[in-house]
Amino acid sequence: MVEEIFANEQFLSEPVGLYKPIDYTLRLGGKRIRPMMLLASGCMFGAEPEELHDAAIGIELFHNFTLLHDDLMDRSPLRRGQPTVYTKWDDNTAVLSGDTMFAMAWRCFLRINSPHSHAAMRCFCDTAIEVCEGQQKDMDFERMTMADGVGLGMYMEMIRQKTAVLLAASLEIGALLAGAQDEEVERIRNFGLHLGLAFQLQDDLLDGYGDTAVFGKKTGQDIRDNKKTYLPLLARTMCNNQQRDELDSLFSAKKNMDEEEKVRRVMAIYNTVGLRRAVDTTIAEEFSHAVECLDSVGAEEGRKRPLRDLVQTLFCRKK
Ligand code: IPE
Ligand code: IPE
Ligand code: MG
Ligand code: MG
Ligand code: MG
Repeated sequence: MVEEIFANEQFLSEPVGLYKPIDYTLRLGGKRIRPMMLLASGCMFGAEPEELHDAAIGIELFHNFTLLHDDLMDRSPLRRGQPTVYTKWDDNTAVLSGDTMFAMAWRCFLRINSPHSHAAMRCFCDTAIEVCEGQQKDMDFERMTMADGVGLGMYMEMIRQKTAVLLAASLEIGALLAGAQDEEVERIRNFGLHLGLAFQLQDDLLDGYGDTAVFGKKTGQDIRDNKKTYLPLLARTMCNNQQRDELDSLFSAKKNMDEEEKVRRVMAIYNTVGLRRAVDTTIAEEFSHAVECLDSVGAEEGRKRPLRDLVQTLFCRKK
């Protein structure tokens, strides 16, 4: 249903320098989990799919806007197996096409014809600001050290903001537009928060252990960028003193050090301490918290099916 909605949307217009990158990004697809979650949540609480289309397009436009800016901020060369917008065009294009997508997302929300549209827009607005707060922390952490700066607690709060709140908002907006009760909105939102944390932890793991050809992003980029993700932060707690000092120094290295050598040394430490299994355990725990939240939602079991299936698909994801 989501693919059909997007196939019917027109993104190309003039000037092409502005709209071609937008069309390029949206035609490359991606998993489209946010609009899927919005539709699945709304329908679970009794809305008709057509009532949810504008919000579903809006949430995906917003997500894609964050990716254009995020790739520029992270200097990431690849996304969805193709060159990122700032590499295919230039930095200014990523900024301006991204800004336009954010405004297009708002236009979708303004089109919603429902007594609950204001509540949906408030959720969208609060979420957009919180994503930016999370992104700022992600960037701040690049320059902070692990020895006396970033810890696991701060990291979890950062990913809650940059990633989990948007998954939660997708579900919440679906529920709001369906006119669900406040307690149910809260329950489905909590499901999204746990799912979002698990999702970002997986993204961090795939940066280290994914296959670029499947993942669609260049692996090791978090290491090159000195990102204080769950991987180095957890690895630190599993290291001996010498390994910890090496990791701390690699993750505060200047960008001019041999990057591929840096990635190799970091991965060698991860492998020595058995990091992959430990991260897998945390991810599985976060998924099971999410499932408990979905269990608590007061809707017919048959109507929860699409969200349960999505959890299963995401649990096994390699991209
Ligand atoms: C990428 O999101 C950004 C993160 C929050 C990790 P997705 O993994 O949902 O990206 P697409 O839309 O499927 O490409
Ligand atoms: C993504 O974090 C968060 C947002 C885009 C808001 P990442 O920087 O880890 O996402 P990827 O790995 O580039 O997709
Ligand atoms: Mg990134
Ligand atoms: Mg980023
Ligand atoms: Mg990432």
